[in-house]
Amino acid sequence: MAEVGLPLWLLAELTYRCPLQCPYCSNPLEFASMQNELTTAQWFDVFKDARQMGAVQLGFSGGEPLVRQDLPQLIKYAHDLGFYTNLITSGLGLNEEKIAQFQQAGLDHIQVSFQASDPVINDMLAGSKKAFEKKKQIAKLVKKYEYPMVLNFVIHRHNIDQIEEIIQLCIELEADTVELAICQFYGWAYLNRQGLLPTKAQLERAERITNEYRAKLKAANNPCKLIFVVPDYYEERPKACMNGWGSIFLTITPDGTALPCHAARQLPMHFPNVKDQPLSDIWYKSTGFNHFRGDAWMPEPCRSCSEKKKDFGGCRCQAFMLTGDAANTDPVCSKSEHHHMIIQARKESEKQLALSELTFRNKKNSKMILVSKG
Ligand code: FES
Repeated sequence: MAEVGLPLWLLAELTYRCPLQCPYCSNPLEFASMQNELTTAQWFDVFKDARQMGAVQLGFSGGEPLVRQDLPQLIKYAHDLGFYTNLITSGLGLNEEKIAQFQQAGLDHIQVSFQASDPVINDMLAGSKKAFEKKKQIAKLVKKYEYPMVLNFVIHRHNIDQIEEIIQLCIELEADTVELAICQFYGWAYLNRQGLLPTKAQLERAERITNEYRAKLKAANNPCKLIFVVPDYYEERPKACMNGWGSIFLTITPDGTALPCHAARQLPMHFPNVKDQPLSDIWYKSTGFNHFRGDAWMPEPCRSCSEKKKDFGGCRCQAFMLTGDAANTDPVCSKSEHHHMIIQARKESEKQLALSELTFRNKKNSKMILVSKG
């Protein structure tokens, strides 16, 4: 049996409710059927148990975590336990009063996501006419309350050509760190992959412009840090997803299901719920968490690969989504017998697909998907 590490990073998906409808959301397609959110007291228990087990970082995410009215209590409880707390938000629903309240409760970090630099695209992706201006105001407030301003842009085919405007916007807002993360294909993003994956030419241009801006910022002594995250669909080796299965990441979904990563719920295996089992049993003893720990489960070519300690065979969820078997080598790897699927996806990125043709993440579409799956 593989040696088991500590669940250092706890992700609390407080809710699947969200005012936005991003077509690249990583939430499950069937989120409309998942309604039994953990209560405040149940979240307290999760935080207490996780902290006792060695968790140090706690991310509040969703959906949109701001829709939980008990967020200040959850932050305070986590802070008092000694967690480093991070709010991952779209900013919609945030205002000065709330930021002050969260700060008072001990919140350490806020990450605001943007959709694009262009208000029209931003608002269309966000499904709200006010999203863009509101987000700019929030970003400024985050700075006012002396939080490091960390902005996150999910980059895809429909906003990648505005990378320059996006970076300019971040500089204008005096961002400290900007994550330009090319879309990863899980949940709704996988459903919309053909319309979201940038072409190779788009990607190369965006990376070149980002590098030019890095040089300009350095020359101007501007501390703004640009992080450009290349999509694994354009790599030849897979990412070390979650730093290895069940190694440091523990996700708790709104209904209390415990997962080794946010996307694992779709895998054909049982994942326990914090309402039914102690968290330490879930982490150390459950089949779901032990199944892909270590390397004993690996088939060839991973088993004899010299890089298996570096990438752990890639992403189990991606292997499942693309090949139907989570134990397969991640097809991103050029050694995988399924790598042609990635090459095919790259080719498909050359086809035009309008933004309006994407399936937006909302309750109506989620219900339709549920009906179609019977
Ligand atoms: Fe689940 Fe990569 S997202 S293992």
